[in-house]
Amino acid sequence: MGLMGLFGLFVVLVLASSSFTVPKAEAHIADFDETWQNRSAIARQVALEAYVHEPHNVTDHVNHMVHKALEGNSTRRHLGKYTGACMATNPIDRCWRCQRNWARDRKRLAKCALGFGRKTTGGLKGRFYVVTDASDESLTDPKPGTLRHAVIQDRPLWITFKHDMIIRLTEELLVNSHKTIDGRGTNVHIAYGAGITIQYQKNVIIHGLHIHDIKAGNGGMIRDSPEHYGLRTKSDGDAISIFASSFVWIDHNSMSNCMDGLIDAIMGSTAITISNNHFTNHNEVSLMGASDSFSDDKIMQVTFAFNHFGRGLIQRMPRCRWGFFHVVNNDYTHWGMYAVGGSQHPTIISQGNRYIAPTANYAKEVTKRDYASEDVWKQWTWRSEGDVMKNGAFFRESGPPSTDKYTRQDKITAKPGTFVGRLTRFAGALVCKRKSPC
Ligand SMILES: *[C@@H]1O[C@H](CO)[C@@H](O)[C@H](O)[C@H]1NC(C)=O
Ligand SMILES: *[C@@H]1O[C@H](CO)[C@@H](O)[C@H](O)[C@H]1NC(C)=O
Ligand SMILES: *[C@@H]1O[C@H](CO)[C@@H](O)[C@H](O)[C@H]1NC(C)=O
Repeated sequence: MGLMGLFGLFVVLVLASSSFTVPKAEAHIADFDETWQNRSAIARQVALEAYVHEPHNVTDHVNHMVHKALEGNSTRRHLGKYTGACMATNPIDRCWRCQRNWARDRKRLAKCALGFGRKTTGGLKGRFYVVTDASDESLTDPKPGTLRHAVIQDRPLWITFKHDMIIRLTEELLVNSHKTIDGRGTNVHIAYGAGITIQYQKNVIIHGLHIHDIKAGNGGMIRDSPEHYGLRTKSDGDAISIFASSFVWIDHNSMSNCMDGLIDAIMGSTAITISNNHFTNHNEVSLMGASDSFSDDKIMQVTFAFNHFGRGLIQRMPRCRWGFFHVVNNDYTHWGMYAVGGSQHPTIISQGNRYIAPTANYAKEVTKRDYASEDVWKQWTWRSEGDVMKNGAFFRESGPPSTDKYTRQDKITAKPGTFVGRLTRFAGALVCKRKSPC
């Protein structure tokens, strides 16, 4: 499409969407028809209802559960050398892992989320859908048995895979509400093609996948539900793009080397937990809020817990705007520029992480603020509590210790960063075998 064509399209989008608060220009939707308009209005309502007015209740709950998971008999066992026996070292994993019958009890996972995405149940109420076919040929009429056919369905579904496979998505995969994509027991790679998009949807779990080498899609006609398809413009090349969506839980995935972000959440998305993932070989890891002028991102509330930010990462782990971010008990072993950053006064509560700075002297600072002078950013609440700083790493704190209007005396402190090695030990996609503990 030429420049004039793009401009024309932009005008049409603006006109078509003038009664909604969410700008559509970046939505990759060429025809913002009534179906998309309705979805956008409903998604906004869901997000407003998902917003938690006392976010510290949620951060406290995560910390409480970590304490509980590490107390008693578990602690000592985890100190020794790893023998290969199944171990669940954090409260999310302890909720479902190391059960012999896990493959017959997959939906147990749906009760295990913690943090802002804790109410995410995905396809809990649905039937199982087994993906048998790795192809992705027809985008408007996806073949039964393919991942695309599974995710566009309107009804809740718990999606698993018949065997190991590499799925190269021809264009972005548009995931509909109430889905779990569960890679456990199979070695499933979403790779070398387009990525996963969750747009104006709710209640999605993505678990146990390898997602890597994702490229931008060219756009085209793509089906997003049994009743609807439409023209999409080029996609960005994110591994997972969360767009104006709520209740999303991304757990135990291995993600690397994509064209844009590994996990981006934008346009008023909220109620998100990103946990137990292993990220490697990537520049801009996770963008939370894409626009300094989009204040609707104030409702964004995201938990990052038990992730391993590993080899070959450069920046944005995450890079935040506007919202509230609980970054707790993650292991940061590699970064090239900085780890946690942002603009537009996001609240960042960094607790019990391990930050291991790179050798380069210019990259010792964990934090980075953009587009604000010090007298402005010093008002932003960015706090570091119980973080372990290695190799000269330092976190530049700012703002008041708590965003609460009252002083919190009953606050639950996080498990300190010294426990992070244990808590993140099994980050990334797990190797699970039927009939043995996973
Ligand atoms: C959009 O919502 C309106 C009002 O609820 C409804 O009448 C209409 O049928 C919906 N259209 C589509 C395509 O879903
Ligand atoms: C937050 O926690 C306090 C103290 O436990 C409780 O009284 C209050 O109801 C909670 N608020 C919400 C919104 O859950
Ligand atoms: C002790 O270990 C058993 C077996 O793994 C587990 O079921 C139990 O919850 C643990 N107790 C505590 C307090 O961690």
